[in-house]
Amino acid sequence: MQVFVVFWAVFVNAELSSFATTKNLTFQLHRLSDPVSGSVANPSWELFVNDTAEGKRQQVTGFGAAWTDATITAFEWLDPDDQTNVLQELFSKDGIHLSFMRHTIGMSDLTPAWYGPWSFDNTSQPDPNLDQFSLTEHGEKMVDWILRMYQQNPVVKLLGSPWSAPQWMKGKTNEILPQYEDAWVNYMVKYLQAYHAKGIDVTAMTIQNEPLHSSDPEWTTAVPAATAVTLTNKLGPALKAAKLSTEIWAYDHNTDQPAYPSQVLQQAGDFVDTVAWHCYVDKINWTDLAVFRENHPGVKQYMTECWLHLQDEGFFELPDFVTGPMQNYANGALAWTLGGSTKYDVSWPSGCGPCSGLIQVDKASKHYAKTQDYYTLGQFSKFVEQGAFALFGSGSYTYGDGTGVQASQYLNPDGSRVVVIVNKLGDLPRFQITFRGSNQIYHGPVPGLSVTTWIIPG
Ligand SMILES: *[C@@H]1O[C@H](CO)[C@@H](O)[C@H](O)[C@H]1NC(C)=O
Ligand SMILES: *[C@@H]1O[C@H](CO)[C@@H](O)[C@H](O)[C@H]1NC(C)=O
Ligand SMILES: *[C@@H]1O[C@H](CO)[C@@H](O)[C@H](O)[C@H]1NC(C)=O
Ligand SMILES: *[C@@H]1O[C@H](CO)[C@@H](O)[C@H](O)[C@H]1NC(C)=O
Repeated sequence: MQVFVVFWAVFVNAELSSFATTKNLTFQLHRLSDPVSGSVANPSWELFVNDTAEGKRQQVTGFGAAWTDATITAFEWLDPDDQTNVLQELFSKDGIHLSFMRHTIGMSDLTPAWYGPWSFDNTSQPDPNLDQFSLTEHGEKMVDWILRMYQQNPVVKLLGSPWSAPQWMKGKTNEILPQYEDAWVNYMVKYLQAYHAKGIDVTAMTIQNEPLHSSDPEWTTAVPAATAVTLTNKLGPALKAAKLSTEIWAYDHNTDQPAYPSQVLQQAGDFVDTVAWHCYVDKINWTDLAVFRENHPGVKQYMTECWLHLQDEGFFELPDFVTGPMQNYANGALAWTLGGSTKYDVSWPSGCGPCSGLIQVDKASKHYAKTQDYYTLGQFSKFVEQGAFALFGSGSYTYGDGTGVQASQYLNPDGSRVVVIVNKLGDLPRFQITFRGSNQIYHGPVPGLSVTTWIIPG
C-alpha cells in the first residue's frame, strides 16, 4: 500500500484554480474563473514569484487558531452533529484544513467566569510534590476536543501555552517563587505526559504566555527574561529525561521587546531555537521578524497570537497578521481564538471580553456561524500545505493611504505554487503573476477588497 500512496502523491497535482473572499462577503472562499496561462496587455497589477531553489525561504508549519475554555464552552452548546460539522469545517480537507493550533494550559483570560480559577494542581496549600496533579474536568474536556480535532486532521502541530502557574507556586509579585521552580518544571512534564497518555504529543510549548504581562494574578504570571532562562535550562533536560520530544519556544509576547527572546536564545540556546511573537504593538512592523532573524541566524519564528474582535474588526486585520509574518520568515501564524460566543459572555471578567473566534456560536439557537476570519484564514490554510516553502516574490506594495496589494507565495510539497493576494484596491481585472523559475506567466481577475488565492499546478 505504501507504494500506492507514494504514486498518488507524485501524480495527483493541485488543480489550476482561484478562490476569493471579499470584504462584503459576497464571495466566501468562492471559486473564480481560473487564471489563464500567458501574459496580458496592460496588466492592472503585476507580481513576480521566484519558484526556484534560490527562491525558497522558510518552511510552513501551518495556520490556525487557539483552543480555549471559552471555545470549548461555545462548541459544547451545539448539538453533537453540529459539533462534528464544525470540526470538519475547521480541520478536514473539505473545510479549511487548519494544521497548526495552540491550546491554553489551565485557565486563561478566555476561561468562562463560572469555571472559577483553575490549574492542573488546584490546591490552596503548597504541593511541591504535585500530589494533587490532575487535568481536572476542564482539562479532560480540552483533551477530548483536541482528540476530535485529530480525527479530522491527524497531522496538526500543537503549541501549548500556560497563562498562570498554580497560584501556590507564585509570590506577591506574581512571579514563580525560586523554591517552586523545580515543581513548575515537574508540573509541565506531568502535563505533557498526561497528554501523551491520552494520545496527544504536544509539538511545542512556551514557558509562559505574555511573560511581561502581569495585570491579573488569576490568569497571568510575570516571568522576567532571567527566570525564563532558568526555567528553560531546567525544563529542557527534564523533557529529555522523560523522553518527551516537545520543543520549547521562547517568549510568546509582543515584537517590541526583542531583547527578551534574544537573552533566552543566548543563555538557554541548548534547548530553544524558536521564538513566538504576538501582535499587540501600535503600527506593528513585521519586518522586525526579518531583522531578528538577521541578528539570530537559524532562528525559527511564529506569530502565535493576534486577536479577533469581530464587532469592530477590519476585514484585513487577519490577512495582514498572517501575510506580514509569512513575508518575514515566520513558519506559521495563529489567530486568537478558534471559537467564541455571539453574546461575548465566555471570557474571564478581567479578560478579553470582545474576543471572537473563527466560529461564533449562538447559545440560544444552538447555531454556529463561520466568520469573515474563518474564510480569510482559509484562503491560506486550505491551500498552503504543511511542509510548503514560502518563496521570494516582488510586486507587493502599500500606498500611503493604506491601499495596495500584499502577497505571500508558497511552493507546496506536490510542486504546486500558491499565491495569496491581499487586495486593498478595487477590482484588478488583469492581474498578472510571473513565475521566474519555471518561466510561466498567468493572468486573471482579482476582485476588489478581497483575499484571493491562486493555485498553479507544478
Ligand atoms: C528572484 O528573481 C530575480 C529575477 O531572476 C532575481 O533578480 C532575484 O535575485 C531573485 N531573488 C531571490 C531571493 O532569489
Ligand atoms: C480550583 O480552585 C478554586 C479555588 O479554590 C475553586 O474555586 C475551583 O472550583 C477549583 N477548580 C477545579 C477545577 O478544581
Ligand atoms: C519597518 O522596519 C523596517 C526595518 O527596520 C524599515 O526599513 C521600514 O521602513 C519599517 N516600515 C515602516 C512602515 O515603518
Ligand atoms: C462585493 O464585492 C465584489 C468584489 O469587489 C463585487 O464584485 C460585488 O459586486 C460586491 N457585492 C455587492 C453586493 O456589493
